[in-house]
Amino acid sequence: MKNWSIIAEGFHKEDVPKHESIYSLGNGAMGMRANFEEDYTGNTLQGSYIGGVYYPDKTKVGWWKNGYPEYFAKVLNAPSWIGLHIKINGEVLDLNTCTEVKNFRRELNMKEGWYERQFTATLPNQQEIQVKALRLLSLRHDELGALRYEITPLSSEVTVEIESYLDSGVKNNDANWDELFWNTLDVGVVQDYYAYITAETKKTRFKVHTFMHNTLRLLGDQPHFFSPSKKNKKDNYVGLQYEVSVPAGKTIRLDKFGGYIISKGEEFWVSPNGLTMYEREKYIGYTLTERLNAFDFLLKMQKKDWAAIWELSDIEIEGDDKAQQAIRFNIFQLNQTYSGKHAHLNIGPKGFTGEKYGGSTYWDTEAYCLPFYMATKGAEVARNLLMYRYNQLDKAIENAKKLGFTGGAALYPMVTMNGEECHNEWEITFEEIHRNGAIAFAIYNYVRYTGDEAYIKDYGLEVLVAIARFWAQRASFSAEKQKYVILGVTGPNEYENNVNNNFYTNYIAQWCLRYAADMVEKYEIEKQWIHPQEIILWRKIAQNIYFPYSEKYGVYLQQDGFLDKDLKPVSAIPAEERPLNQHWSWDRILRSPYIKQADTLQGFYFFRNHFTHEELRKHYEFYEPFTVHESSLSPCVHSVLAAALDKKEEAYALYLRTSRLDLDDYNKEVHEGLHITSMAGTWLSIVEGFGGMHVVDNQLHFKPCLPAHWHSLSFKVIFRGQLHVCKFVN
Ligand code: BGC
Repeated sequence: MKNWSIIAEGFHKEDVPKHESIYSLGNGAMGMRANFEEDYTGNTLQGSYIGGVYYPDKTKVGWWKNGYPEYFAKVLNAPSWIGLHIKINGEVLDLNTCTEVKNFRRELNMKEGWYERQFTATLPNQQEIQVKALRLLSLRHDELGALRYEITPLSSEVTVEIESYLDSGVKNNDANWDELFWNTLDVGVVQDYYAYITAETKKTRFKVHTFMHNTLRLLGDQPHFFSPSKKNKKDNYVGLQYEVSVPAGKTIRLDKFGGYIISKGEEFWVSPNGLTMYEREKYIGYTLTERLNAFDFLLKMQKKDWAAIWELSDIEIEGDDKAQQAIRFNIFQLNQTYSGKHAHLNIGPKGFTGEKYGGSTYWDTEAYCLPFYMATKGAEVARNLLMYRYNQLDKAIENAKKLGFTGGAALYPMVTMNGEECHNEWEITFEEIHRNGAIAFAIYNYVRYTGDEAYIKDYGLEVLVAIARFWAQRASFSAEKQKYVILGVTGPNEYENNVNNNFYTNYIAQWCLRYAADMVEKYEIEKQWIHPQEIILWRKIAQNIYFPYSEKYGVYLQQDGFLDKDLKPVSAIPAEERPLNQHWSWDRILRSPYIKQADTLQGFYFFRNHFTHEELRKHYEFYEPFTVHESSLSPCVHSVLAAALDKKEEAYALYLRTSRLDLDDYNKEVHEGLHITSMAGTWLSIVEGFGGMHVVDNQLHFKPCLPAHWHSLSFKVIFRGQLHVCKFVN
């Protein structure tokens, strides 16, 4: 257990897809799974992704319903620049066919931002070689990645053939219609060492120039670099092939730079001799010395840039290596996924580590991720996350219109890339309307935390008003109850569909209506676009909204009729039937009381200061026993609340579950990618849970509750432009 590194030793074929996720790299603009560079015929999920470059995959459903989106926008598997075909005396290097693989080791160095893999392999022709591969995706240069690949023959002098290539014939595993998403426009070799593929996404027409730059040399010799003996160009492929005789014990080193230059519409910058702008940059210069030193230079920059990130965002836990390593892994992955440089990018639930969830934006961003970026990066980065939704307001209004809402009401999509809804299951698309609440709550949370009130006037208000208009139309008056009700919804707990009066949804709707009304009155009442009657109506609905409540238990009910269920706790379910979603029929899940993720308690998390300690305790103790935490977004919220209730052991168990979810593969699905957005929840469970950080009356408060075996907990937060260094000692 290393505090700053994730290390895996030993080659186990069944672990390959899982480790491809865990050892993924990203720089906020692009990312890649830890696929082997050389050929591998075993089980693998190939994945390289570019932020914001997506494809509208035509929706495929069994039974079409009016209002379904026509497509699901997904981040594409991008052309690959990392690949190498390697032959040793004519035999392909493929760990799946090697007769022996020894000293296999992967290391993800989180402090410095690189990933290294080493092994010693015996090929079927009995040749034994040692390989070391070091990779990084540059934080400083969005478009640039680098690989250093070294081969040392151990048995005898061998002929090493290396074909370093680019490949745009890539597919998405999750393509609905098994289509290729890229059209290759141009394949070229410009110099002995530089080649590219220009490809365009179908329909969305993002043009991507994938490039590579190679330098091959024998170590120990005078600087000498080899030229490729062959250049292989095909429709979707370009390779530079080298053939070198390497004596036993000597090392051949390939430094490969690669990445993407992206354009939508405009032409790429191309110099008169056909080279891209990278050739002009000094870190991949023209001179031999520059070319030989480029990798080391980039690595040095990388260490410096990561040091700057850690300076603000590191969390130190003394007395618990497991917890320490886990929180760093989570912080590292969050920084790999989103840098905050660009308002058109966002945080996909799996970041750049897999295809699931299509790289699209979910309510996860507002409900879970925003606080992390606000506190560790400051207001500008967090503001970009809000601007993403502001820029998509027109689309959200259009989306509501498609469903029959009028007068500028907005329903933000549950899943989106460009502002349009792209989820196509009715219970999520049409019913999980609580997401609108999280988007409004994020504005409130941002302003309360950063003090940037101007955001409301300049942008936030328009979003709040459109959201309030939606709730005012979505709530309906029940003559029976003489109250406003919200019918036919799905709350955050997706193990219940089409329920009436989900407490969380009703509560956040009520809060949105009041908050929007308050903000309109504070800033904009004179504006023409809001009629005073609207504000009166919003307040009336908010005042008279209905909440299901049980006198017997003294708790708000998750929804109407919750107490009719067979209320056996999760502990009564045999272990072999968990997770339920892999063992029970959907019908059985829907009828059960089991809660996929924090639902009523999500409301208690957001609005903790609306409730007394006793109310929180009752609700936590009522709902936790029914919660199966089968969404990765769940244990973190419960952990924060358990810490608030001083339930240290429970809070700690839930913390380990959230923070080591991927490292220890709790849900047996890490091969599909990492749970990036829930990693922000892990940060919440430390800072807001064990640190007890919360904002009251524009001030930062802490109520620490450290697990008994921790000696200390330290972290930094930026609050209203000031850096606060926090250390709590047990
Ligand atoms: C959760 C949603 C979440 C989505 C993406 C689902 O399993 O139930 O709340 O938005 O995953 O993380």
